[in-house]
Amino acid sequence: MSKAWWCGWTLAGLTLVGIGSSGWAEDSGASRLTAREAQVFQRICAECHTRPGIGVPVIGDEEEWQARRVKGLDELLANAVNGLLGMPPLGTCSFCTEEELRHLVAFLAGIPLDLEE
Ligand code: HEC
Repeated sequence: MSKAWWCGWTLAGLTLVGIGSSGWAEDSGASRLTAREAQVFQRICAECHTRPGIGVPVIGDEEEWQARRVKGLDELLANAVNGLLGMPPLGTCSFCTEEELRHLVAFLAGIPLDLEE
């Protein structure tokens, strides 16, 4: 076990403490979102999308998102913009741009953003 290894883990721990109590950002590549997008995600989308048991596809739920990814990013985005059953139009982010929503949808659905750009 090298010293560098320890430093890495300490840093990861501090980062987790920094973003709050939930650990989703650490594993799911939040760094690919802009700071504003990450904030929107945490304040708005995460309000529903991190809660199991209320009929919401939870972030990181591979089985759930695998089934939805089949639709393709464009359709997922269209559904997020227009609303779908319990999903409110724009995910209630009325100030989000289409590009921001596209990033958020890709992030949530586990679609690598680099492929889209
Ligand atoms: C009020 C709760 C709520 C909020 C806030 C919310 N969602 Fe959702 N979302 C849902 C629910 C419920 C579904 C599942 C709809 C269904 O039954 O297919 C969903 C589904 C989705 C889907 C899948 C659509 C599909 O075609 O399968 C995407 C993508 C999505 N949300 C993105 C977002 C994004 C991005 C945000 C933040 C900007 C957000 N949601 C905010 C409740 C919410």
